[in-house]
Amino acid sequence: MYSRNDIVTHILKNKNNTPKPASSLCFAPANIALVKYWGKRNTELNLPITSSLSVSLGEFGTKTQVLLSNKDELIINNQKFASNTEAMQRLIKFLDLFRQTNNQYFKVECTSNIPMAAGLASSSAAFASIVQALNDLYQWQLPMSKLSILARIGSGSACRSLWQGFVKWQKGKRKDGMDSYATPLAQTWPDLRIGLLICDSQPKAISSREAMEITKRTALCYKLWPQNVKESMPLVEKAIAEHNFALLGQTAEHNALTMHAYMLAAAPTICYFSPRTIEIFHKIWGLRKEGMNLYFTQDAGANVKLIFQQQDAEFLQKTFPEIKIINPFI
Ligand code: PMV
Repeated sequence: MYSRNDIVTHILKNKNNTPKPASSLCFAPANIALVKYWGKRNTELNLPITSSLSVSLGEFGTKTQVLLSNKDELIINNQKFASNTEAMQRLIKFLDLFRQTNNQYFKVECTSNIPMAAGLASSSAAFASIVQALNDLYQWQLPMSKLSILARIGSGSACRSLWQGFVKWQKGKRKDGMDSYATPLAQTWPDLRIGLLICDSQPKAISSREAMEITKRTALCYKLWPQNVKESMPLVEKAIAEHNFALLGQTAEHNALTMHAYMLAAAPTICYFSPRTIEIFHKIWGLRKEGMNLYFTQDAGANVKLIFQQQDAEFLQKTFPEIKIINPFI
């Protein structure tokens, strides 16, 4: 069984271990999965049971500055985190993998324009930007596949946040996870839009890490998930290649609801729906019945992400005044 430390040591073998004195600043976009990652075959290395495919959110993401300091510090949107907080503990554990000497510490300052921990993939953008900033600080010049592996060790879906556009994370087969990383797809889709509907900006009651494990362990139907992904993945790839919007929307929505159905079947039940989430689902299904080409997806949080095309942006802005419309291919 490989540890995180084994993998990081292997990746950084023969790499420079003297950080530059100046700070490093890097941006990574958040990403929304169209074919979800749900369940790990290895929790230590964040190795997934299935492959997944996402679209990045353009200018929505996290800018991170990393510099050497005399103690570890985490500041998110000007708010300093105490050392006993969960976010700080998670960061310290991650930074431990990269310290070249015992008394090397980092100040990590993140500025994010996405609500943290509200199922908007905020940890994916954070870990992807931290890894890029460390790569720059130490001037490792690692290839993107290796950066993707390091980001994955921080948070699974972070391995897809190193690129804009459509990104596929290959689950890989190896025990050391060296073949489990993301790569960008060449296709673009200028008319595609994602609409963020914040139903609850409070931190979620249960982390995706914990929720995945409970689902995998207790939901009998979870064993069918690889089959669901096997069916969804080629359909989403075909939809992207042919710009077949209905196929993309139908498949992504079905994939997300299947994931949530497995969570409902877990014991104890994991329910990320708020009353507003359900209300929005019904509104979308109603609009679709009236002929509108509108779909949604949802991650480990109450918020809903609409999937639509530019031609419907004006109507949706009126229907949901609180919507944040994102053009992933700007
Ligand atoms: O990377 P994590 O541990 O935050 O898990 C992400 C899980 C989902 O957002 C629900 C799905 C996905 O593929 O991003």
